[in-house]
Amino acid sequence: MLDAPNTSPARFITFEGGEGVGKSTQVKRLQHNLQQRDIEVVRTREPGGTPKAEAIRSFILQGRSESWGPGAEAVLFAAARLDHVNQLIAPNLRKGIWVLSDRFHDSTRAYQGLTGGVDPKLITGLESLALDGHTPDLTILLDMEPEDAFERVAQRAVEDGLELTGDRFEKEELDWHERLRDAFVAIAKAKPDRCVLVSAAQPEDALEAEIWELVSGRFPELQDGPSA
Ligand code: TYD
Repeated sequence: MLDAPNTSPARFITFEGGEGVGKSTQVKRLQHNLQQRDIEVVRTREPGGTPKAEAIRSFILQGRSESWGPGAEAVLFAAARLDHVNQLIAPNLRKGIWVLSDRFHDSTRAYQGLTGGVDPKLITGLESLALDGHTPDLTILLDMEPEDAFERVAQRAVEDGLELTGDRFEKEELDWHERLRDAFVAIAKAKPDRCVLVSAAQPEDALEAEIWELVSGRFPELQDGPSA
């Protein structure tokens, strides 16, 4: 019997979490695992993903918007996101290509909204403007004690022979990072159908396996494909 054609839509998956929880590694590993099953997939990040959004990224991360306050920064992140959705995310999904994004709109709600004190009404308004209906199908929230995450970042910098400088947000105090962690947990509780909280305090391979189980359990088209 011939296999039925795969008619499922392309999926949009986002990764979120505080600083140093290991998102980037896991986004790459999920991309690889999907490609092993012949899924076409693009990997992107926020802020950024398109030339205009990357320009906004460097402006913010250099600290040039810091004195403008979290409200203005939320607007800048949303402006970058609008371009990212219009130019990269929506066109790829339309072509049937899966999209994985290292951070997306939940970061604005967590960093600028719940931690930075920006009015939730503004955050919700910016979300509906920038997303234009492109809510992720699944959001994986990597959770870890900020102190442990910092230790990991420092360890990695030593291994790579890099100097730890810290960008706009990495420079914040520990207490701020703890509030940020609580913000992501609150988002996971508020959106249980879309968001899954996963402990990042485990070896990379074990975390990769847990994420694969989660993703393949969520999307039926991944369930009978050839294994990696
Ligand atoms: P990046 O170096 O990409 O950090 P990470 O590896 O932790 O993702 O820098 C992005 C920073 O921007 C990070 O500190 C989170 C922050 N950010 C916001 O504050 N709001 C947002 O909406 C987004 C997308 C990111």
